[in-house]
Amino acid sequence: MTRYAGDDVIERVLLTQEVIAERVAELGHAIATDHAGHDLRLITVLRGSVIFLADLCRAVETPLTLDFMAVSSFAGGGGGSVRITKDLDDPIEGASVVLVEDIIDTGLTLNYVLSILRARKPASLSVCTLLDKDVRRIVDLPIEYRGFSVPDQFLVGYGLDLAGRLRNLPYVATVREDEVA
Ligand code: IMP
Ligand code: MG
Repeated sequence: MTRYAGDDVIERVLLTQEVIAERVAELGHAIATDHAGHDLRLITVLRGSVIFLADLCRAVETPLTLDFMAVSSFAGGGGGSVRITKDLDDPIEGASVVLVEDIIDTGLTLNYVLSILRARKPASLSVCTLLDKDVRRIVDLPIEYRGFSVPDQFLVGYGLDLAGRLRNLPYVATVREDEVA
């Protein structure tokens, strides 16, 4: 395993690069099969999910386009208060949209983003997440494509960060208890 500066905070590797690659290929194939002949648009909320998106889109063997948005979440207000800081570049009306996420935790952010996208009248709207921390879910969300169900532990790597770092690790790992307290 390649050592990365700063990876001494890691407790153990949960998903290896090989295991992730195999699952990403399956997800990409499923998305291609379900959207053949449609105007497929993969949409991602910056920043962590771009790592997954980059691999996923190359596993989808059908024409597609990509678009990006960014949101910021506010503390308080009962949670789920989200503001768009960068909107999509193109309209999604009539497009078959798959929203690509790195991890779904409480689901509050995703729930808000989905409500915004739904109002723009896409032909279809589904969710693909690499990781699902399902025991933490607050709002019930339909997830059509799920990579892995993961335990309620803080994870880093493959897009997931600890204070902005470690997104570039090629695997998903748990972090030592004293680092996330
Ligand atoms: P939610 O609104 O609670 O579902 O927030 C999901 C977001 O929280 C993800 O897109 C990540 O940015 C972040 N997140 C949740 N769990 C983890 C984790 O274990 N490591 C790093 N980021 C996480
Ligand atoms: Mg995220």
